Amino acid sequence: MHSSLPYSFNRISHPTNLPPIKRERERDMVLTALISPALVQWSFLVCGSLGFVLLWQAAKLIDRLWWHPRRLERALRAEGLRGTSYRFLVGDVIDYERRSKEARSRSMPLRCHNIAPLVAPLLHDIVREHGKACICWFGPYPKVISDPEQTKEVMSNKFGHFEKLKFPALSRLLAGGVATYEGEQWVKHRRILNPAFHLEKLKLMMPAFSTCCQELVSRWTQSLGSDGTYEVDVCPEFQRLTGDVISRTAFGSNYAEGARIFQLQSEQTARILARVKKIIIPGYLSLPTRNNRRMSEINNEIESILLNLIGERMQAMQEGENTKNDLLGLMLESNMRGTDENGQCISGMTIDEVVEECKLFYFAGTETTSILLTWTMVILSMHPEWQDRAREEVLGLFGKNKIEYEGFGRLKTCR
Ligand code: HEM
Repeated sequence: MHSSLPYSFNRISHPTNLPPIKRERERDMVLTALISPALVQWSFLVCGSLGFVLLWQAAKLIDRLWWHPRRLERALRAEGLRGTSYRFLVGDVIDYERRSKEARSRSMPLRCHNIAPLVAPLLHDIVREHGKACICWFGPYPKVISDPEQTKEVMSNKFGHFEKLKFPALSRLLAGGVATYEGEQWVKHRRILNPAFHLEKLKLMMPAFSTCCQELVSRWTQSLGSDGTYEVDVCPEFQRLTGDVISRTAFGSNYAEGARIFQLQSEQTARILARVKKIIIPGYLSLPTRNNRRMSEINNEIESILLNLIGERMQAMQEGENTKNDLLGLMLESNMRGTDENGQCISGMTIDEVVEECKLFYFAGTETTSILLTWTMVILSMHPEWQDRAREEVLGLFGKNKIEYEGFGRLKTCR
């Protein structure tokens, strides 16, 4: 190719004693010779296609972040729903965060049960202003607040299709599994998981519940001061308790690895909650920020612990060991059996899917239960007379013995 050029590159990069204008003309001649008409056509084609793809993606993004929410808003308003107006990208997220921070800086008056303004101050105000059925915005997604009867109708209507919101990048970091699936995939996973949550199987987990509760009570008892009192922040205590319970009931003897997963998932949740505002920006979680890198590391560590646990357990079960009646064993047994509880054939889950279900047990089971327990304690502290009645009932039924499942049916106050 060089031979067809009037000058070699050498001569251009090491100019002779030609005057500058002439030298520039020569360089132009070389460049013109390099850019042949075919090359020009190709570069137009490539740049044109790239430009088209970029425009197409930009149009899709604008549709997703502006036109689609606006269309939904019009449709919802046409149904008679009032509420906040959509704001590009963020919706009500910034207000939501600001109002929640303000509300949490105030303490609740004693014996007050009006928790809505404290727990969800913005939603509380929106409902007050726009009525019990109204809309607000989580980023570009409308949230319809409706009365419970309407919600029940939508959720249980077999003819309708209830679509779940999808945040794949977030689910990957936190937990996916059955909670994020729809249709056939959801049915398949539920069929495999159901046996693990049968009452008979849950009863077998009672000793694990008991051990965790006893540990908590003896820790509190040991901390009692000389005056027989001890002030305790029950919220973190119950987080630890529910983390322990899930670790024991999900992984039995591999409780220590389970506890590490709980620790990592708590850090992950805190990191995500602190950045909700940014996470709604498309692609934000893929940016190589320090926090995103840490979240990936956490996820990798959780997944590698789970992969090890699952691999070891599957091998042990293939060698004839029993399920140990923990959630992992029961799930794997049901997965390997190939039929559901009604004897219908089901194809099993992949190892990656089993990992996601394990992550979900932690995520779904710990925070929910610890908040319920914390709130129960707050209410019992507000009403010591009910605390006395509950204590009397439990001691009357079980004495100082371990609590047995069979006695639950006779509880009246605590039920
Ligand atoms: C007080 C405690 C709990 C509350 C209030 C609670 C609440 C909920 C709610 C509202 C959902 C539906 C979420 C949705 O579809 O958007 C759900 C789903 C789920 N929960 Fe819980 N939960 C609690 C405890 C637990 C525990 C202890 C576990 C397991 C260890 C668990 C496992 C699950 C799973 C696997 C799903 C997904 C079910 C499916 O989509 O078919 N939950 N929970």
